[in-house]
Amino acid sequence: MSSTANRQIVLRRRPETTVTDDCFQLIEAPLREPSPGEVQVRTLWLSFDPAQRGWLNDVPSYVPPVELGAPMRSYGIGEVLASSHPSFDRGDLVYGFVGWQDYAVGDPGPDGLALDVLPADLSDPKLALGPMGMTGLTAYFGMCEIGRVGPGDVVLVTAAAGATGSVAGQIARLRGAHKVVGTAGSDDKRRWVVDVAGFDSCVDHYEGHLFRRLGQPAPDGYDVVFDNVGGELLDAALGNVALHGRIALCGSISTGYRPGRPEVGLRNYQLLTTRRARMEGFLVSDFNDRFAEARAALHGWIAAGHVRTAEDVVEGLEHAPATLRRLFDGRNLGKQILHVADQS
Ligand SMILES: NC(=O)c1ccc[n+]([C@@H]2O[C@H](COP(=O)([O-])OP(=O)(O)OC[C@H]3O[C@@H](n4cnc5c(N)ncnc54)[C@H](OP(=O)(O)O)[C@@H]3O)[C@@H](O)[C@H]2O)c1
Repeated sequence: MSSTANRQIVLRRRPETTVTDDCFQLIEAPLREPSPGEVQVRTLWLSFDPAQRGWLNDVPSYVPPVELGAPMRSYGIGEVLASSHPSFDRGDLVYGFVGWQDYAVGDPGPDGLALDVLPADLSDPKLALGPMGMTGLTAYFGMCEIGRVGPGDVVLVTAAAGATGSVAGQIARLRGAHKVVGTAGSDDKRRWVVDVAGFDSCVDHYEGHLFRRLGQPAPDGYDVVFDNVGGELLDAALGNVALHGRIALCGSISTGYRPGRPEVGLRNYQLLTTRRARMEGFLVSDFNDRFAEARAALHGWIAAGHVRTAEDVVEGLEHAPATLRRLFDGRNLGKQILHVADQS
């Protein structure tokens, strides 16, 4: 590739179900210099988030859909190569919407690339994609503010080996939970959830009898359910909710975030009434004005070794579509990342 070309992975067609490689096209676009008020950023690391699948649907949501022919929208970390904006200097490491491309050129403000300079005290910049970034913040606010976890609580976290769930369960423990149970889809992941992340146990969500098997570790029910999955797993969790339980609806990856609504709804929702339980959805952006507080707490816990995390790194921009699929196939352990280029 010449230094004036910019490899971009653009959306060719919208997926109906699973994201396949042919939904995207790898093109080479000319690399342009930043105009006044703009920056030019080299992409170093890309973040993979289940929400990206939702951004491919042509339906109204909390962000507009990715346009056909445009580079796929993605959070990531980059290095500023050239700047015509007063808040950014050449060499800055930044976090924001760099997209599936070698270089992002544009307005660094909230309506453009939404860039922030990374804090200088991060031991590893990649932490800004996971535990010190969106998934860590989601875990923090979902567990503390929506789940309102407290001393003595019995807690269930679905997708516990993932970026969000693994941190959510460890925060529950740090906030005094009595027991923390997870779910995960492979032996390796379940071992990691217990041995490294310190959950008390971890249930295989692919085996049958979910209602019974989720109930075994919590005979009096779950005070807090932090749900990343939805569908049958959420229904089985609902059946095991404790009196005055709190269910934090973080995500519903089992829907595949496809354009249509799931065909089957929840059967155990009436227990919300009889057990006087509360089920509440949230977006991490609801807590924008409190990110500094959460980052300070997460930074302390990670530095002290109280929150342990994993990264799953794929190499090469051209593998971005396949890397997104890994989240929906359950192949990632911890935060799914893709390495695009080294820092200069
Ligand atoms: N509310 C918010 O603001 C917010 C912000 C960030 C993320 N989220 C949500 O949080 C959840 C986790 O996101 P993440 O980035 O941390 O991803 P992740 O948990 O690191 O990866 C997704 C995991 O989900 C599990 N999974 C995939 N398909 C499944 C299915 N059909 N049934 C059961 N489990 C399945 C897989 O693990 P196993 O099969 O091994 O369990 C997979 O590894 C997602 O639902 C995401 O949309 C919400």
